[in-house]
Amino acid sequence: MPVGRTLTRAVHQALSPVCGCQVLSTSVRCISFSPRQVTSSDASFHSVSFSETDHPRVLITGGLGQLGVGLAKLLRKRYGNNNVILSDIRKPPDHVFHSGPFIYSDILDYKNLREIVVNNRITWMIHYSALLSAVGEANVQLARAVNITGLHNVLDIAAEHGLRLFVPSTIGAFGPTSPRNPTPDLCIQRPRTIYGVSKVHAELMGEYYHHRYGMDFRCLRYPGIISADTQPGGGTTDYAVQIFHDAIKEGKFECYLKPDTCLPMMYIDDCLRATLEILEAPAECLTMRTYNINAMSFNPEELVNEVRKYLPDLQVSYNVDKVRQGIADSWPVKFDDSNARKDWGWKHDYDLSELVTVMLNILNSETRVARAN
Ligand code: SER
Repeated sequence: MPVGRTLTRAVHQALSPVCGCQVLSTSVRCISFSPRQVTSSDASFHSVSFSETDHPRVLITGGLGQLGVGLAKLLRKRYGNNNVILSDIRKPPDHVFHSGPFIYSDILDYKNLREIVVNNRITWMIHYSALLSAVGEANVQLARAVNITGLHNVLDIAAEHGLRLFVPSTIGAFGPTSPRNPTPDLCIQRPRTIYGVSKVHAELMGEYYHHRYGMDFRCLRYPGIISADTQPGGGTTDYAVQIFHDAIKEGKFECYLKPDTCLPMMYIDDCLRATLEILEAPAECLTMRTYNINAMSFNPEELVNEVRKYLPDLQVSYNVDKVRQGIADSWPVKFDDSNARKDWGWKHDYDLSELVTVMLNILNSETRVARAN
């Protein structure tokens, strides 16, 4: 593990709380099986441990990031509380710890991850551990370790144990030479961030393992995700979450992107439902293994105008961050998700006005509760 030891404790501390990602482990990898030993005639091996009639046994990595807790809640309702295990390297808050199974898991520790999969008879893995775009640029080595080395561990364990594997990709998997408006599923992908490079790598590796070994790999390219209960960390689209918190608490907001920077975005409920739907989609519906999903596109000015309909006194200033502006300028303006809509019936529920209403309703009631206490 040559990368991690050079990284400072400060970097780990700065990163860990915000992104639900994994820090580095020093364990030695020991693989008793390699998917590289499986020939194409063995491609059915992936169905050995999973029967479609059983409930899946799900492991979510990076479970304390923006999406894990919400996805666990959704999957637990469907498959039973004990069939969905959240994992992370950080201590869970009380409400997470008491809501269902939670365990320590470090994706950079191959043996630890394999032990968890074996002991819990895992059949599906949702791999949420990752460093996002802006924080990845600040810590390229750590992003490379978590997003690429970690993915290799996950892929090999998924192949070894016949798991269905979901890995999210992102608008960040595209770059300045991609068509931006709209961006189709298949086009030039030359991202300029380590985050984007690692996600293109994940898409390609997952698809390769699918075609080479029959692994049941499924991937959605998420837009920027907006949620009230959990916050992202270190992303370029984070402003669209922060504005709601600042508008309610401070009555003012400073935006690090220019007012006309338009990006694809999605409310968390749509994102989690899309994830459930692709996980449950019959294999024969999937003509591809990596799909764009789209809901809305807006720029900061449009979001501000919508928020001001409810909070007319909101003060907004712009203080452009060069790194994040550069990243945003290279990303899609709008996703073409026609293949997801055609193949497995994807349809979003929330557009900009519904997003703003639901976010303000949730955060306003939280503020009232906090004040009442
Ligand atoms: N939300 C991510 C980021 O901004 C994009 O997928 O980095």
